[in-house]
Amino acid sequence: MSEGAAKKEDKPRKFQAIRGTRDLLPPETTLWNRVEQTAHSVFATFGFGEIRVPVFEPTELFARSIGLNTDVVSKEMYTFADHDLQGLDISCSQVIRMIDMFSSPGQAQYVVTALNHFLAAANQEIVRGNLSRTPEVVIAMQRLEEDMLFLSGVQATTPSAEFSYRTNEIRLTLEAMQWGIDVALRPEATASVCRAYIEHNMQQLPQPVKLYYMGPMFRRERPQKGRYRQFYQIGAEILGGTDSPAIDAEVIEMVMTFFDKLELQGVQLDINSIGCRDCRPKYVELLRAELLKVKDKLGPDSQRRIETNPLRVLDSKLESEQKIIEKLPHIADHLCNDCATHYAAVKRQLELRGVIYRENWRLVRGLDYYMRTTFEITAAGLGSQNAVCGGGRYDGLVELLGGPSIKGIGFAIGEDRLILSLQESGKLPAQQGRDVYIAWMGEKAHATAIRAAKDLRNAGFSVELPPVEQKFGKALGQADKLGARFALILGDNEVAEGLWTLKTLADGSQQKLTEPDLLDFLRKL
Ligand code: HAM
Repeated sequence: MSEGAAKKEDKPRKFQAIRGTRDLLPPETTLWNRVEQTAHSVFATFGFGEIRVPVFEPTELFARSIGLNTDVVSKEMYTFADHDLQGLDISCSQVIRMIDMFSSPGQAQYVVTALNHFLAAANQEIVRGNLSRTPEVVIAMQRLEEDMLFLSGVQATTPSAEFSYRTNEIRLTLEAMQWGIDVALRPEATASVCRAYIEHNMQQLPQPVKLYYMGPMFRRERPQKGRYRQFYQIGAEILGGTDSPAIDAEVIEMVMTFFDKLELQGVQLDINSIGCRDCRPKYVELLRAELLKVKDKLGPDSQRRIETNPLRVLDSKLESEQKIIEKLPHIADHLCNDCATHYAAVKRQLELRGVIYRENWRLVRGLDYYMRTTFEITAAGLGSQNAVCGGGRYDGLVELLGGPSIKGIGFAIGEDRLILSLQESGKLPAQQGRDVYIAWMGEKAHATAIRAAKDLRNAGFSVELPPVEQKFGKALGQADKLGARFALILGDNEVAEGLWTLKTLADGSQQKLTEPDLLDFLRKL
């Protein structure tokens, strides 16, 4: 290796944030904080309390709630097996591989060796305390020991059927053995909130229970402006109580109030009803039949969705499909009486609240748990990823997760997109300056400066106290660069006189003040 190459190798690797993730830095974080503070205060006025749920949950929770055929579950979740038994996994797969490769009784020895190895490894993990001795594990181990005993006695003359019956039993036992759980980074939080509702018996609280949350979510999507792999949501859910249309309207009113407080520009609310368990399947079948008639004219995604989820075809943004989609039957014409009445009442309730909406029959949303009301909000300055909020009703989801049969509705705001839109419309936070920069020189002045910094900070002012002595000229330059409003000049003279010099950096004016007068002066500003 050449000397140059060796030098290059020595250079420590520079790390970068993983694609689709990013750092949020000051002063932008000031805007994030303002948005979050506004959410806390607006949601509290609607009687919501904050819930904080884990960042990872069993994969099964999301698969069951959001749906196996959705993009989120089928393509975008970050999942991993949460256990420390990688070695056991490998030797388990080895047994299964041997069973696949050697299917005649004369080759039994290969399976025996692999199984023997697996049982030894499993017993070792039990002794180490890494594998719990649950009844399922104990029974499975006993079965495998018996199978191994049988296989050890197998001869080339043993009937093949008997041999393959046993090896199949071994495979089933191994596949059913669970020594860890499959977990996923949360792609959204509605499923977690429902899980928490059940786990904490919230049906015993006064209904409905109104909860909100904020925090990071994870989806392995193709990153672009407004679309990240780690993104942030601010969401709210109403669980239990009635499915009165007033609830749907109030939850929408709450998001709109929040956006109003933030002065978000170009806000457009779209609503729809996607029916219920009774009427939607009939509409979906009708849609599928109509789509099959035009299948050849559709792109591959939509063609696939005719089978998996025809409703999602309505979501398509493909230019060539727009004319075809426009001619498809509208769900509003196929709602059952209850759904149609509910939808009409939601619209009336929105009007009572002065919430302006647009009906959008193509708004179906990408997650399986929705029924009846669905809504989406777009805002200015976001390009193609312009949905800042999505939500809807999901009666039945809690029951699907093993809880009581209750109603549910909620929404989630994409905080990254909300911030982008606010920035695009010029709502930038002011650069975070300091109130006071303490320019000190000399030992005695340093002690006084430390005390002054403490007093000023206790009084709520932001203070920059340089750690090392600087010439006054340099200190004032530094104060300017940091955007400080005042420089407090403390030299040995000031300390001896008990009169401190305060310089207003905007106009260069100076005044001499005693310590108590200084605090009074700053407080009055
Ligand atoms: P969602 O439509 O999947 O719904 O997401 C809600 C919002 O999160 C979107 O409108 C968007 O603003 C933001 N978002 C989604 N994916 C990304 C991404 N990759 N990058 C940036 N922002 C993103 C839900 O998550 C439901 N849990 C909402 C809900 C709550 N429905 C009922 N309750």
